[in-house]
Amino acid sequence: MSHPQYRAAIFDLDGVIADTARFHFVAWQRLAKEEGFAIPHVVDDRVKGVDRMASLNIVLEYTDRGYSQAEKDALAARKNGYYVELIKALTPADLLPGAGEVLHTLRAAKVPVGLASASKNAVPVLQALGVLDDFDYIVDAATVTNGKPDPEIFLKAAHALGVDPSLCVGFEDAPAGVTSILSAGMFAVGIGEKDLLADAHEVFPSLADVSLARYFQL
Ligand code: BG6
Ligand code: MG
Repeated sequence: MSHPQYRAAIFDLDGVIADTARFHFVAWQRLAKEEGFAIPHVVDDRVKGVDRMASLNIVLEYTDRGYSQAEKDALAARKNGYYVELIKALTPADLLPGAGEVLHTLRAAKVPVGLASASKNAVPVLQALGVLDDFDYIVDAATVTNGKPDPEIFLKAAHALGVDPSLCVGFEDAPAGVTSILSAGMFAVGIGEKDLLADAHEVFPSLADVSLARYFQL
């Protein structure tokens, strides 16, 4: 099916544009180890699309120790410090396959492009990848009240781009993100495994496999 009627593209960051999920996981692993417990690899998938504090709560499921909110705030800040250290090594080579090409094609076709990421580190990550200027609007994750799977973040991006949600295509690698796109009334493109992202309208292994002409007039 071809849908060349869409007017805006809204992307998730981690796992769609940037190869950063591994850094989030390494930072959580380090934190857990320092706290005296280990986290299994399934946490890597479980924290995808989930904001920092909710991700910490998932990590803490793997220890019996209880933490106060103040302690949790400190743990989240510590993990972020480790993550910020790790992303200092990011270069344009850490763009996921097809991401740079897709962004440049959309820019050339004057299709408005938004970012709907739960990450408060989105701007430095995009900067390090050399694609910050390819986005017309980046939702500030700190201003989002309800994280994915709530549609708020994708709706905010569509509103800022001035495009009706029904004319937006959202790109996501996490099930919670796909739900967010669908609840926003957008066309959902899953990037990753079909089994994991079964709810999306279409799923492709990477952005390199997406033909933009299916959705946009180029
Ligand atoms: C999402 C990641 O994009 O951002 C999550 O998929 C992460 O794993 C979340 O927890 C929040 O990121 P940050 O950079 O604000 O801690
Ligand atoms: Mg993601």
